[in-house]
Amino acid sequence: MLILGLQGSPRKGGNTDTLLASFLEQAGQMGAAVKTIQVARAGIVPCKGCGYCETHGTCVISDDPMSTEIFGLLRQADLVVAATPVFFYGISAQLKVLIDRCQTLWSRKYVYKLKDPLAATRKGLLFSVAASGGRQLFDGIHLTAKYFFDAIDAQFSHALTYRGVESKGAIRHHAGLAADIDETIRKTVLPMVKRKNVLFISSTGACRAPMAAAMAQQRFGDGFRTGFAGMRPAAELSALMSQTMQQVGVDMGYRKPQRVDQALNDTTPDLTIVIGNAVEKIPVPGIKTVRWPLPEPVSSDEAAIDRMRLSIETHIDTLMEFLG
Ligand SMILES: Cc1cc2nc3c(=O)[nH]c(=O)nc-3n(C[C@H](O)[C@H](O)[C@H](O)COP(=O)(O)O)c2cc1C
Repeated sequence: MLILGLQGSPRKGGNTDTLLASFLEQAGQMGAAVKTIQVARAGIVPCKGCGYCETHGTCVISDDPMSTEIFGLLRQADLVVAATPVFFYGISAQLKVLIDRCQTLWSRKYVYKLKDPLAATRKGLLFSVAASGGRQLFDGIHLTAKYFFDAIDAQFSHALTYRGVESKGAIRHHAGLAADIDETIRKTVLPMVKRKNVLFISSTGACRAPMAAAMAQQRFGDGFRTGFAGMRPAAELSALMSQTMQQVGVDMGYRKPQRVDQALNDTTPDLTIVIGNAVEKIPVPGIKTVRWPLPEPVSSDEAAIDRMRLSIETHIDTLMEFLG
């Protein structure tokens, strides 16, 4: 499982940074894979408000880190932590730049009516710090977080907010911080870490494996977490497969094939499903492996890929047994 932390303060080693790092360190010790984006230094270009995403489903700014890396991480993440100081009763401008670019994901969800395979399981947490003690201090931040998490298909779990925190490092002395982090790990992270994991492997990891992983994830929701990999991964997912899935409302955008060892870095599977016969030897020794003898679609027409989708659907039924 992946936790993605969005560190929204420009102050390195400041309160937001410290709070997020403490949480992620503890989550990492519990077995989660963690990654932090230092948003202020990521070089994200602000949204142009051009409407391109509403007519194309992708962002017109295609060569900055948001398009080349961060959309992909947001899609891969099981838990997204938005962390920000209060700046003039709102989130930091730096984090807002990232959030505004998520209009692309909003468009895919609400204009194109696509559903992210992880929509039923992904969660969002909000961390925030502020110097003063005003009653409405975090109201604006809560609203932005609510609509951000909705756009990225994450259920807004809860917020950890701290008043009276001003100088660098002051958060360390905040009473109750350690207990809050412990409780958040127990409630939010541990149930995700404990889920069973199923890794789908095909020859290129570009067509059958991602399709099966997405369909199984949608079918079983929170029941378990799926991943996919290829023995010799292609550079991109099959465009035809993504298109076929799009026709049944599933969003495969911003995902890429990965090597088996990369997939194993994030999670150790409880079950691997090897699709097709091109993968001769068991790719993950010591892990229960099942083979689904689905041949690579020979033709490149949509109908063949759609037939494969139906065939995968039938095989997914057998996973019920594994779920127990
Ligand atoms: C530009 C700016 C605006 C701020 N606006 C507020 C505010 O409206 N209310 C408040 O309580 N604190 C405000 N603060 C204080 C910060 O929220 C506070 O110092 C926080 O601990 C900084 O977190 P950091 O160390 O992660 O950057 C502001 C600070 C800056 C630099």
